[in-house]
Amino acid sequence: DIPKFVKIVEVGPRDGLQNEKGMVPTFVKVELIHRLVSSGLPVVEATSFVSPTRVPQLSDAAEVMEAVRNLEGARLPVLTPNLKGFRAAVVAGAKEVAVFASASESFSKSNINCSIEECLDRYRAVTSAAKELAIPVRGYVSCVVGCPTEGSIPPSKVAYVAKELYEMGCFEISLGDTIGVATPGTVVPMLEAVMAVVPVDKLAVHFHDTYGQSLPNILVSLQMGISTIDSSVAGLGGCPYAKGASGNVATEDVVYMLHGLGIKTNVDLAKVMSAGNFISNHLGRPSGSKTSIAFNQL
Ligand code: HMG
Ligand code: MG
Repeated sequence: DIPKFVKIVEVGPRDGLQNEKGMVPTFVKVELIHRLVSSGLPVVEATSFVSPTRVPQLSDAAEVMEAVRNLEGARLPVLTPNLKGFRAAVVAGAKEVAVFASASESFSKSNINCSIEECLDRYRAVTSAAKELAIPVRGYVSCVVGCPTEGSIPPSKVAYVAKELYEMGCFEISLGDTIGVATPGTVVPMLEAVMAVVPVDKLAVHFHDTYGQSLPNILVSLQMGISTIDSSVAGLGGCPYAKGASGNVATEDVVYMLHGLGIKTNVDLAKVMSAGNFISNHLGRPSGSKTSIAFNQL
């Protein structure tokens, strides 16, 4: 049975804008977050408290967070790669954070400059500091199917990292196909391995659309009981440390498919399309959402 309600986690302001060539002005980011929240999205990942030399696009994280910290209607998590980022996020007003590990050793090194075991130690420090402040922590696993340098990644490795994150206290584990190489053929065995060690209602899927496989991947995930889906308005996104990775699946396209399946999301498609048009106009390029392009032509 596919779920009756799906929680969409909007990652555009973070995963999307971290990969833009130019720096999007802070006020545009803040306006985008406002528009996304008013479209009914329950979770809008706002920014990242990471090294500003590594991700200059999000070096205004504190300003963004301070501007939206009192916004009501949605949770606004931010990425924190270590205690330094966690503390800065809390000072800026973050009430929820996310840590991000990888199932690939070489991607861990290139993305966060440490091994998988080292990052799990760092995240144990973050989750225990967060517990004291009653701040929920989401855990990401990247490269759940393939890695830009190692090629295919065994499901057992993904299950191991997901279980470690879950056991240290992450309330939800998002499984990321960072470079968008997954097909339903590789998603199913990966999910089977992870679902054997983490309850399915604690799992989310996070697909990048490099090979155009996100919607079929989401459909098989729903059929396996997954009810939390990450997506990015206008299909913004990628990863600066995963060459060739394209944006996340577009939120508008996910909403269109879910509503077509009779699944509730609480998201107003027209409003999320208007948020997508707002950021696409700012970036000066067409939306990465086919749904949005189709409606704009009607
Ligand atoms: P490091 O390179 O190992 O260096 O950082 P360090 O720890 O020695 O620190 C270097 C400098 O960064 C120092 O400053 C630190 O103070 C500073 P300096 O002394 O040179 O002036 N620093 C920080 N500054 C601000 N905030 C911090 C912070 N920590 C250290 N939190 C680190 C390690 C993880 C910080 C670095 O490698 C980093 O920031 N990487 C960014 C990775 C990133 O944001 N990647 C994209 C997000 S992950 C993703 O997109 C995948 C996902 O979407 C899921 C999927 O698709 O699969 C989640
Ligand atoms: Mg991503």
